[in-house]
Amino acid sequence: MASSSASPGRSCPVTYRTRASTIAQLTPLRAQSFFIVGGLYGNLEALDAIEALAEHEVAMGLPRPRLVFNGDFHWFDAEPAWFAEVQHRVGAHSASRGNVEAELVDPQPDAGCGCAYPPSTPEQTVAWSNAIIARLQEAARATGSLVADLRSLPPQLRLQVGDCRIGVVHGDPDSLAGWGLELDAMPPIGNSDPGSLSGLGAHSEPVGGAVGAAQARQAARLEAWFRDADVDLLASSHTCRCFAQDFPGNRAVFNNGAAGMPVFAGDHRVMITRVARHPPVLPDDHLSSCGTRVRDAHVDAILLPWDREAFLWRFDQVWPPGSPAQLSYRRRITDGPDHHPNASCRLQE
Ligand SMILES: [Fe+2]
Repeated sequence: MASSSASPGRSCPVTYRTRASTIAQLTPLRAQSFFIVGGLYGNLEALDAIEALAEHEVAMGLPRPRLVFNGDFHWFDAEPAWFAEVQHRVGAHSASRGNVEAELVDPQPDAGCGCAYPPSTPEQTVAWSNAIIARLQEAARATGSLVADLRSLPPQLRLQVGDCRIGVVHGDPDSLAGWGLELDAMPPIGNSDPGSLSGLGAHSEPVGGAVGAAQARQAARLEAWFRDADVDLLASSHTCRCFAQDFPGNRAVFNNGAAGMPVFAGDHRVMITRVARHPPVLPDDHLSSCGTRVRDAHVDAILLPWDREAFLWRFDQVWPPGSPAQLSYRRRITDGPDHHPNASCRLQE
């Protein structure tokens, strides 16, 4: 199958193409509470923490949260027993596929990791990711039939919490590996036009020229996604950089960044998106770093502590010094990325 553009890791296979309008036609999964877990990356210790938080909410008298994994739940688990455990535990919940799962079940020529990295991502990072997917594919093949279980995963999901309609994607509504719900792709905050995202600038500095035109295109595309998907909230992942932003008409985008790696500098916690009828009741060391109401649902970016030392022991067995995952990711796991809460929470209301 042809790819839409150039080199492995930067290309976006045509099989990744999706449509926002498909989300409008899906039968919604309904619950009082969802934990949306994007980018677990094989991190079983983070999964322990997420499941423990679900049990805590039940113990506090809240409805049991339903876990939804929106892709890339495999990645570092390039060892058959580790891979099988991730597959088994995620399989107990609802899931959609990411580019990692797509490249496990149906590897595309020249797709590499299927990440569709933008030009700003260094070539070395792309090469490391392509090497990681090759090792993961090898481990997955060793598990035999487990890989076939991934084939049935849909690329998109529709959820409903109360009146809040949620479109769940891995990248963006147009592509499994799209970067259209990346922080840099968002319109500037400050627009309060109640009718349209296209009316940028109501409370922001006027922007002209090429920058203004690009922002107008971003706003128009986002407006079309909300309309065509018929949702109030878009939940994504894939880009590894978390943010939340709300928009006129009581709509929002929440990108959890990663549930399997730290999301902020100097903070080892991972992030999930929680959507529920009730506000979160969190244990010590947990935090809603950004939260709002969408219709009658509470939407929160939840930071969770997890057993990083146990994960690193497991990681180091499979990815020793000099291996592509060690070179590309270990420092991020220990130090966090160069990203900060004040750049992540873009809520106006
Ligand atoms: Fe991804």
